[in-house]
Amino acid sequence: MKWTPQKIKALKGKQKITALTAHDCYTAKLIDEADIPLILVGDSLGMTVLGYENTLPVTLEEMLHHTKAVTRATKSALVIGDMPFLTYQTGTFTAIANAGRFIKEAGADAVKIEGGAERAELVAALVLNGIPVVGHIGLTPQSIKAMGGYKVQGKTSPEMARLIKDARALEEAGAFAIVLEALPAELAKDITTAVSIPTIGIGAGEHCDGQILVIHDVLGLFEDFTPKFAKQYAQLGQAMREAIGEYKKDVEGWSFPTDEHSY
Ligand code: KIV
Repeated sequence: MKWTPQKIKALKGKQKITALTAHDCYTAKLIDEADIPLILVGDSLGMTVLGYENTLPVTLEEMLHHTKAVTRATKSALVIGDMPFLTYQTGTFTAIANAGRFIKEAGADAVKIEGGAERAELVAALVLNGIPVVGHIGLTPQSIKAMGGYKVQGKTSPEMARLIKDARALEEAGAFAIVLEALPAELAKDITTAVSIPTIGIGAGEHCDGQILVIHDVLGLFEDFTPKFAKQYAQLGQAMREAIGEYKKDVEGWSFPTDEHSY
């Protein structure tokens, strides 16, 4: 069964929605086989895969390259391509053309864009042109320079009111889900109640309709920094370090390859 925006929307209030990021075909295959409905090819790949300091340098070509790898391996999950910085902010025409490349060239099922009410017109234009959209409000990493860093959002009453308005504007514009990042749990609860589309939280507490994490955080693969909201389910970074060290020891000690590995 292939997940669609309609099927994702229908989960609200019935079943919690699990989502993960993926940037390569093997990871996507494992997530898909685990029956996880949403895969985000997030621009967090800038840090986890490409070695950038933040998401700002990530290009459209880099995102398309990784989205193609993910969609090739995905059968049932709905794949969301994350539109990188300045590929949708500079005008509706450019945004539709760029979003269209995720669908036409990379095989994505939807795109994600950051921002609230100020993006409503664009979301409506994308949806009108057949491109399903996921919104993203709260901490929006493409705005870290303006926000002054990675900070929890929505702590004051005016900010809370604005974020609820943002979520409603995105819903009205036709977004089929909204990522809520780094928000107080009670505010995320209010937003979740205020809209009829699913909210997918990351650092937004337990009341959202769904939860997304960056796969590198889940697997313990990104050791530079572990956010408070992430939970590690494995320590693959350490396992890789040990395996690489063992391999080196074997090669240098003439223990690998042996007859067993020879033709
Ligand atoms: O880029 C990303 O991985 C994201 C998630 C953190 C939601 O936007």
